Amino acid sequence: MDLKIVDNYSEMSEIAANTVAGLVQSKQAAVLGLATGSTPEGMYARLVEIYREGAIDFNSVKTFNLDEYVGLAPEHPQSYHQYMNKHLFDHVNIKPNNTSIPYCSSNDDPAVVCAEFENKIKQAGGIDLQVLGIGVNGHVGFNEPASHLRTTTHLVELAEETIEANSRFFNTVDEVPGKAITMGMGSIMGARKVILLASGKNKAKAVRSSFSGLISTETPASLLQLHREVMVVVDREAASLL
Ligand code: PGA
Repeated sequence: MDLKIVDNYSEMSEIAANTVAGLVQSKQAAVLGLATGSTPEGMYARLVEIYREGAIDFNSVKTFNLDEYVGLAPEHPQSYHQYMNKHLFDHVNIKPNNTSIPYCSSNDDPAVVCAEFENKIKQAGGIDLQVLGIGVNGHVGFNEPASHLRTTTHLVELAEETIEANSRFFNTVDEVPGKAITMGMGSIMGARKVILLASGKNKAKAVRSSFSGLISTETPASLLQLHREVMVVVDREAASLL
């Protein structure tokens, strides 16, 4: 594991953007695994700048997002579809058909949606680089602490801490969907390279239990200790309990 402790959020974002850009420069048809949330916003902003400078081309790039709420239409302002459009897709030359986010309406069969999503990753040749944030409870994607973790993309009930943490984006906590589709730990561990980002004091406990403690399904990010090529980029505050 390559652990980098940096001064602040903007340094973390710079390293992450350069890592993604470096891959896209070396492999035109790179397959990216992408994350949403506050953490990667700076990385996306920097990537858009790098694109505008003419240094990267998304024409042949494919992307797979980690997760999405169940029952939120892609047009909903808090859907991860909208997040991705706003922070990346609307600003670069990526082909909409090359972007995949696991969408499951209330009428869809989640098992079918999940199987199709996994298949699509396989058909794309697997993920070259997976970008991850980390939840305050140590979750990655929406793989919540539990006695068992699932391997492939699946339906999850969100943990109370996650609903609480994500309520900041909604008018009330009751509006936060209780279910989501997420890549499983196996889908994430299957990426050829992983970069996990964490910033701020509220992530310090999760960072400590994930990267300086035992590997446990109760801290899903700790499984990444077993990945062959994982880079963990944390700012001073998030690293303060290491
Ligand atoms: P955040 O979320 O980047 O908004 O803190 C991270 C996560 O819950 O995985």
